[in-house]
Amino acid sequence: MRSSLFVSRRAVVASVLAATVGLSTSGIAWAADPLKIGLILPLTGPFASTGRQIEAACRLYIARNGDIVAGRKVELIVKDDTGAPETTKRIAQDLIVQQKVNILAGFGLTPLALATASVATEAKVPMVVMAAATSVITTRSPFIVRAGFTLPQVTAPIAEWALKNNVKRVATLVTDFGPGLDAEKTFVKRFTEGGGTIVESIRTPLQNPDFAPFLQRVKDAKPDALFVFVPSGQGTAVMKQFGDRGLAAAGIKLIGTGDVVDDDILDAIGAPALGVVTSFHYSAAHPSPENKAYVDAFMKANNGMRPNFMSIGGYGMHLIYEAEKKTGGSNDGEKLVEAMRSMSWTSPRGPVSIDPATREPVQTV
Ligand code: PHB
Repeated sequence: MRSSLFVSRRAVVASVLAATVGLSTSGIAWAADPLKIGLILPLTGPFASTGRQIEAACRLYIARNGDIVAGRKVELIVKDDTGAPETTKRIAQDLIVQQKVNILAGFGLTPLALATASVATEAKVPMVVMAAATSVITTRSPFIVRAGFTLPQVTAPIAEWALKNNVKRVATLVTDFGPGLDAEKTFVKRFTEGGGTIVESIRTPLQNPDFAPFLQRVKDAKPDALFVFVPSGQGTAVMKQFGDRGLAAAGIKLIGTGDVVDDDILDAIGAPALGVVTSFHYSAAHPSPENKAYVDAFMKANNGMRPNFMSIGGYGMHLIYEAEKKTGGSNDGEKLVEAMRSMSWTSPRGPVSIDPATREPVQTV
């Protein structure tokens, strides 16, 4: 009796509300438009692990924080760009024109983010970059806010570490595109300014790299250490060749940014990962209560998959939720970016804030 009375009362309230705001009573009537987030990621192809991690993190954020924010139902529209820049751009245009998305997010590689920047600017739609990490990206549109990291920010500390740990001669090996060039430039500058010597700088192709001949060159140059940046997904091949070619046995130390030994592939790398020294903004082993809860929930929701640093950029969904709350559920791209650009919060990675001048994350490495 009580429950049927309750249901009919709710129905009356819903229909009055719907009549007031001009909505249909079929299904659930929302007082506000849904919040449509277009999440564009490489979900197939060589960088699919990045897409898988970020999508899982976005879904986990929604599961843990509810799918209604500022009174708006959150609609995540996930699209696979296969890692091809022209596809990313076309999908972004379609999402804006056809689906009327309020926010673009994802961007698994630098070229994908660069190709889409002008779309965000023209449509005045916020573009939350969760993975791509070349420093120049945020300068390409005032609507870009970065949730992940930049290569210069994670590279500088390992150069300092090398200088303090008796590493005098270093070879560098980076992938020949934006983030690799950022990493090489930052490492070489810091290391040589501190008195170190670069014996060789090698750049490997982004697509289908064969690391073996490059690592042979490094071995012949006999450095104290090899500094490596390769994008997430390519670390296993580098680590295997490093062992197989006898560089570790020759006493060459492997150092780098954390991309080369990311948490997702650590088990696949196995023993060769022991002794590698990297600097980074995230580790699944970070012992904060927030991170322990995050790792547990992530693994439970994803068949035991361990979250890596790409996931933590995806968990930057927080920026979108908080910007909606701050603006009272706004659709205005400029207001949303304004709300994001001064935000600070405790992420599973540690304390994070967005630098209002650059729209880049400030975080502990
Ligand atoms: C990038 O394309 O900017 C990128 C991709 C993978 C990484 C880091 C940076 O691990």
